[in-house]
Amino acid sequence: MQMIKLNNGVTMPQLGYGVYQIPPEETAQAVYEAIKAGYRLIDTAAIYGNEKETGLGIKRALDEGLVTRAELFITSKLFILQTPEKKAAQTIDNSLKVMGLDYLDLYLIHQPYGDIYGAWRAMIAAQKAGKLRAIGISNFKAAKMIEFASLNDVKPQVNQIEVNPWNQRLEDQQWHEKYGVQVEAWAPFAEGRHDLFTNEVLAEIGQKYNKSVGQVVLRWLMQRGIVALAKSVHPERMKENIDIFDFELSAADLEKIAKLDMEESAFFDHDAPKQVEWFMKRMLDTEK
Ligand SMILES: NC(=O)c1ccc[n+]([C@@H]2O[C@H](COP(=O)([O-])OP(=O)(O)OC[C@H]3O[C@@H](n4cnc5c(N)ncnc54)[C@H](OP(=O)(O)O)[C@@H]3O)[C@@H](O)[C@H]2O)c1
Repeated sequence: MQMIKLNNGVTMPQLGYGVYQIPPEETAQAVYEAIKAGYRLIDTAAIYGNEKETGLGIKRALDEGLVTRAELFITSKLFILQTPEKKAAQTIDNSLKVMGLDYLDLYLIHQPYGDIYGAWRAMIAAQKAGKLRAIGISNFKAAKMIEFASLNDVKPQVNQIEVNPWNQRLEDQQWHEKYGVQVEAWAPFAEGRHDLFTNEVLAEIGQKYNKSVGQVVLRWLMQRGIVALAKSVHPERMKENIDIFDFELSAADLEKIAKLDMEESAFFDHDAPKQVEWFMKRMLDTEK
């Protein structure tokens, strides 16, 4: 597995496995299968409702000797109402307890709303206490990332944002490189939106290397130096998605992929009033 060095010296695997939208009752098995398939980076979040089961899948893999804890890189995130400093500190401790872990490798502020500065202070303290090896943000646009990185003594190590062929974030990536913040891609397949898995351009590129569309997309992110999270509940797809380190996309392939960029989210804009309102309602409904 290719590793990426973060701005605090911690290294993380460049390809990972995410458990968003996996029902709790399927999560432990999925995480166990993912580790068996070779994934070492596992990504969950308090709001996903499957932290406990993610921990159980990890425990099974550890108990069976598939991996050591040091080989794994486990991420979780706190949601909007959990951002005030005291609450954030409790949420970190709770995630550790629920997942049955002594430390997390990466912890993120999940959304760019709420008391993000309070959360950051709690996360820095937890990092100093050895509970979190790396800390970061998620869904911060480049402008907000710049403000946050500039006004804090500790810069985020990672920003987890949507990156896929429809929303390539080329300029955003340059800004993150300037500030030493590693870009981590969520929804690398755009969850299949705009018929990603049958896209002709991506399929044609894949045929040359005997690779699938999914493999082409993940390889493209690897070559851009972006950390990517892929999700599948199917073991055969987990294996397919990690089998991307034996081929290289050419400059011509990369040019063709660059032309697919629609320069907008395949999901939603985090600054759109309607969307922010949705988040605030969801926050009040689900987090209380
Ligand atoms: N920070 C955030 O706000 C945020 C937001 C979204 C996601 N994330 C993280 O990023 C991870 C990945 O994003 P995502 O789960 O939203 O979307 P994604 O990885 O872009 O897409 C997942 C979808 O693609 C399908 N799929 C996966 N591999 C495939 C293959 N080789 N061929 C055909 N279909 C395939 C999966 O179906 P099956 O499962 O049925 O195989 C699933 O429906 C999440 O799990 C989560 O950890 C973070």
